[in-house]
Amino acid sequence: MLPFIRSDLADFSAYKPHPGSDTTQPVQHQNLDRLDTNESPDDLPSDLKRKLAWTYQEIIETNRYPDGGHQELKNAIAQYVNSSANILSPRFGSENISVGNGSDEIIRSLLIASCLGGEGAILIAKPTFSMYSILAKTLGVPVVEVGRNEENFEIDLSAAKKAIEDRKSVPVRTVFVVHPNSPTANPLTSSELEWLKSLPKNILVVIDEAYFEFSKNSLVNELVDKPNWAVLRTFSKAFRLASMRVGYCIANPELISVLEKIRLPYNLPSFSIAAALAAMQNQQVLLDSISQILQERDEIIASLSNNPMLKVWKSSANFVYLQLEEKSIDSHQHCLTYVAQELKKSGTLVRKLNKGLRITVGSKDENSRTLNRLQSVLSDLKLQS
Ligand SMILES: Cc1ncc(COP(=O)(O)O)c(C=O)c1O
Repeated sequence: MLPFIRSDLADFSAYKPHPGSDTTQPVQHQNLDRLDTNESPDDLPSDLKRKLAWTYQEIIETNRYPDGGHQELKNAIAQYVNSSANILSPRFGSENISVGNGSDEIIRSLLIASCLGGEGAILIAKPTFSMYSILAKTLGVPVVEVGRNEENFEIDLSAAKKAIEDRKSVPVRTVFVVHPNSPTANPLTSSELEWLKSLPKNILVVIDEAYFEFSKNSLVNELVDKPNWAVLRTFSKAFRLASMRVGYCIANPELISVLEKIRLPYNLPSFSIAAALAAMQNQQVLLDSISQILQERDEIIASLSNNPMLKVWKSSANFVYLQLEEKSIDSHQHCLTYVAQELKKSGTLVRKLNKGLRITVGSKDENSRTLNRLQSVLSDLKLQS
């Protein structure tokens, strides 16, 4: 370790973006069905891509810095937030929006804004989106972890309350929840919501709505009288722009102005800004594919539920969470790794977690190939046991 580097960073490893694809070959050239990162199976429609190419050719000056204020994009996002929440008279304006290089950047900014310098810890309920704790740890922010109910994945609320009341440790300053959660695909329950609403004003509550367009269930209306709440969204999933790295935060103007102080001046490339604007202008067309994805998801769940070796949950998102039935924890781990590895060998990447697998809903063909592969891996597993 270099002598000038913070000692706690020695234990870290770099984030592996595609955990199943640890080769030197780019993933898209391996002909794999990439069902491990919850992206949309659909690229942008080609006429929209052509328009963007034209924008790049004719409008964007590559020698100039991008628009560092994001005003036009913020206006478009605010309009979308209002309309997607069925708000007729505009409730949210550009002063309620901050835009980031993916919502990952905003997560980091929120950590800097609330917890850095020993001021606070974050609370998460595992399993959940891994970047909250990864980013917190890189900033030296303590992470308090609580569990979830094994059946419905509700947060262990008594453990969460205890952690927040704990006076001996660094106080919890920020709570991160995903609505619906990744990897388990469940929306917040009424008890979880009640608990979040009961949290004092000196705790920041971050509701990550990365999968809102699939769940169609948002908490943005709660922001009106909750200055300590922030909602995160992304263009990486339903809007098919994972490659462009655009996410945003909706919150009260005071919190937004703090985020604006923290972010890098030109955090979004001009082309990403243009792509996100195009997505806002063509939202109807882009979101049209959602119903097909949800139908595919329900068919995947129905098909997997017929297999006695699997335990499969309902999903409010564009992915499915499953576990293997009745195995000891040790061999369960071993079997999960086996299933994920065999799926990869036969052509599908999925996300392996501690206790289960998360499979993104892909195209019709990808889904049917993956279902066949999974059935065949499970049959092999049955023969071996
Ligand atoms: C819950 C959640 N939040 C945020 C993100 C990251 O979004 P972005 O691509 O905007 O950084 C993801 C991506 O998988 C996610 O699952």
